Amino acid sequence: MSVLNKKSVEDMEVSGKRVLVRCDFNVKIDGGVITSDKRIVASLPTVQYLINKGAKVILFSHLGRPKDGFDPEFTMAPVAARLSELLGKEVLMAKDVVGESARSLAASLKDGDVLLLENVRFEKGETKNDPELSKKFASLAELYVNDAFGSAHRAHSSTTGVADYLPSAAGYLIKKEIEFMGGALENPKRPLIAILGGAKVSDKIGVIENLIDKCDTLIIGGGMAYTFFAAKGYGWGNSLCETDRIEDAKAMMEKAQAMGVKFLIPVDTKLGKEYAPDTETKIVDADSIPDGWMGLDIGPKTQELFKDAVKGAGTIIWNGPMGVSEWDNFAAGTIAVATAVAESGAVSIVGGGDSAAAIKKLGFEKKMSHISTGGGASLEFLEGKELPGIAAINDK
Ligand code: 3PG
Repeated sequence: MSVLNKKSVEDMEVSGKRVLVRCDFNVKIDGGVITSDKRIVASLPTVQYLINKGAKVILFSHLGRPKDGFDPEFTMAPVAARLSELLGKEVLMAKDVVGESARSLAASLKDGDVLLLENVRFEKGETKNDPELSKKFASLAELYVNDAFGSAHRAHSSTTGVADYLPSAAGYLIKKEIEFMGGALENPKRPLIAILGGAKVSDKIGVIENLIDKCDTLIIGGGMAYTFFAAKGYGWGNSLCETDRIEDAKAMMEKAQAMGVKFLIPVDTKLGKEYAPDTETKIVDADSIPDGWMGLDIGPKTQELFKDAVKGAGTIIWNGPMGVSEWDNFAAGTIAVATAVAESGAVSIVGGGDSAAAIKKLGFEKKMSHISTGGGASLEFLEGKELPGIAAINDK
């Protein structure tokens, strides 16, 4: 998918206009405190551009998955407060989504003002992409900008439907995400190496299938490696193994071989006796997992194998940790791979969700070329799927 043919916020005449901007402010909030403001920070280039141009800026987003109308646990108020700090100016906060408060505040905005609506999921029609709700959103503004990359895989009223009723364009974040990830898929600096980890083959099967056709090397780590062990005829002890995916794993390895794609799985693994941070551990070769033990990280030989494979890469796409990286005992594999990626000199792109959290925790954030703000959205993008939130944006 290319955004090159999509309108960008710079292609619109925004001065003096009411511009409705869908952001992804779906941040984690713990006791009213935002634990990571990465997604709010990522929205700033578009918001600041619109303020500088003298637009009347109306922001809206979902937060969490509220079930039944207004719920104080999911209010956008903490986001308005943080955004206000980051912008250094007041952000008005509507008491509702498309009700009296939102309408009157939107109508009273002056050029350069910023308003944040309440959580769009307080409206029942949002996740159903209800046209009536989409029309209500559209009635608040004259232009629509979608900058919610993290929600671009959702065909909801605020991400997709509203674009039927207003002229639309992509914000800077969506452009940046697609340029990095789309560039890596469509026209990568070679060799292109994909490193895929995480717990389940079933979550990544679409990504592996799409990337096999594009990559020079595909590296598999994390919990899903044990399904590949099974496909090779190795035992897996108590490790996570999706027995209904063993045939798929076999087929993927065969396809890679037929296509001349290097397909690397771990050659050794660090085991735990229990699924616990301080459990007894030992390191064994991939074909020697004893009964009663479970693989929780790649082993040291595999670290070397993966580090070597990454050397000389032109582009690296990484999605998913190599082990249970949130536990110190099982973080070494992810740290080794993160270090190798950071030192490779390649264009390095990290898919969001767990991998982004692992990179942040390990302190490698600044060393990657691009860390996606999308979890599900970046996975679907890497699967080669069309994202409805991007498809809905007007072409140039
Ligand atoms: C995300 O965090 O992946 C996005 O904000 C989408 O959230 P959702 O899975 O609740 O639609």
